[in-house]
Amino acid sequence: MSQQRGPTPRRTLPRRRVLAAAGVAAACAVAVTVSLVASASPDLAASTGATAGTAVAQQAAQQASQRLVSEGQQTFRFDTFGDEAFWGGTLHLDQAIEGAAHGGVGPGLSPRTALGVGLKVDSAALPSTVKDAITSGQVDLDDPAVTLQLLKLNSVVGVKGVFDSSGNLRSVGIECALCHSTVDDSLAPGIGKRLDGWANRDLNVGAVVSLAPNLQPVASLLHTDVATVKKVLGAWGPGKFDAELFLDGKGFQPDGRSAATLLPPAFGMLGVNQHTWTGWGSITYWNAFVANLEMHGQGTFTDARLDDARQFPIAAENHFGHTRAPVDRITPKLAGLQAYQLSLAAPKPPKGSFDAAAAARGGKLFNGTAQCSTCHVPPLFTEPGFNMHSGAEIGIDSFEADRSPSHMYRTSPLAGLWTHQKGGFYHDGRFADLLAVVRHYDQTFDLHLTSGQQHDLVEYLKSL
Ligand code: HEC
Ligand code: HEC
Repeated sequence: MSQQRGPTPRRTLPRRRVLAAAGVAAACAVAVTVSLVASASPDLAASTGATAGTAVAQQAAQQASQRLVSEGQQTFRFDTFGDEAFWGGTLHLDQAIEGAAHGGVGPGLSPRTALGVGLKVDSAALPSTVKDAITSGQVDLDDPAVTLQLLKLNSVVGVKGVFDSSGNLRSVGIECALCHSTVDDSLAPGIGKRLDGWANRDLNVGAVVSLAPNLQPVASLLHTDVATVKKVLGAWGPGKFDAELFLDGKGFQPDGRSAATLLPPAFGMLGVNQHTWTGWGSITYWNAFVANLEMHGQGTFTDARLDDARQFPIAAENHFGHTRAPVDRITPKLAGLQAYQLSLAAPKPPKGSFDAAAAARGGKLFNGTAQCSTCHVPPLFTEPGFNMHSGAEIGIDSFEADRSPSHMYRTSPLAGLWTHQKGGFYHDGRFADLLAVVRHYDQTFDLHLTSGQQHDLVEYLKSL
């Protein structure tokens, strides 16, 4: 690892301001509309008629943006974009969920196994009889028929079961919420109210995909065999997914560790420029990317950067940068999806989850001698402007950066860090906890922080 000095602060940085909660995006849209109306007719605005007109326009704009956000919420939670043609139709994941006893294959997916691989259940979708049965321990967690029932109730977060008229599972699809929502465990572990935008660090995506009886199409795409595909998926572990595997076919880092990255949160993104660990583009760029190329929904996706066969052999061969389904079920959803994601504020840490006095001292270090705020600029905690760095600048290798057209890492926005401490930190979870992150910077930037100062910085990070 290189021993580079960190950048020197050029000027005093503004202290962190509290981000306004959900609805900021909506409020902004309204404010813009209102000021446009007012400036278009300055003298009219003085008359009573125009004032009433302005109020009407304001209300209409407010309703429109609220509608967009709630459409986006529906999409984020419940839209498969037609991807059941892939997860069910091609990989036959539905058959593994059903099990031989219900017309599928194998033992079927019991609720215990489903919860064990990190799938979550939305308690709001359950009738009270089912909730009571769960709390009184009367639900057989080993019976795959219960899983089918939960799917029928549309209560499995991020998973949609398609049933025929006689109630048999015919296909299965996935939704954004699978990886970017969890639940508050209020009914039982893994069962509770939805927490949208929270990274599901319990979810073992590799284990879920491995259940599929037919992984041959994935093996053929990657020019390998099913055993190798299973080895790659098995190496991901909880809280990880590899969004670049279908582009470059790389399953492992040069040192033998999995090439997968952590599932990031999808909240706290308002004001942030580049997205994903390696800055592939904006939120809406990535939403289109994921819905088309990872979920295998049916839509349109364009990115000529994927034509580079040296960097993206699999994507170039399959023309993934020029994806066009006969019916586009994704593009009309992008505006709402983005509005919804922008409306999700990073949640505040619970009282007592950090030492406030230590966090206050840590905040001074963060914005001062430890130089963190040169990159993590409060209150966004990423750079306003171009928020990307080379691996060398932050003292790490460039393997994952080089799997992105940017060849860089994006400065992670840090608000809500406390919600995703499972699985470690940095894109691949290489640092087990926040103290390991701070020690890494101490060494990389020659900060000479005492152990007390390191502790204070950690408490500050937990307070964001
Ligand atoms: C199978 C799990 C999975 C699903 C499903 C999924 N994502 Fe993601 N998402 C990820 C991973 C992993 C990353 C990080 C990718 C990277 O940096 O290479 C990510 C990154 C993101 C980011 C960037 C966040 C940031 O920190 O900048 C956004 C935005 C996002 N996803 C939105 C969505 C939306 C919207 C959907 C549904 C259309 C979706 N995701 C579906 C796993 C998933
Ligand atoms: C040169 C710019 C730069 C400086 C200075 C910097 N960081 Fe970072 N930080 C980054 C980048 C880039 C990443 C993303 C690394 C990755 O994805 O692997 C990051 C990631 C992190 C993460 C992990 C976030 C996550 O979700 O896993 C934490 C925590 C963090 N930084 C804290 C700090 C602290 C504390 C300091 C000061 C001691 C600091 N950073 C200084 C650029 C910087």
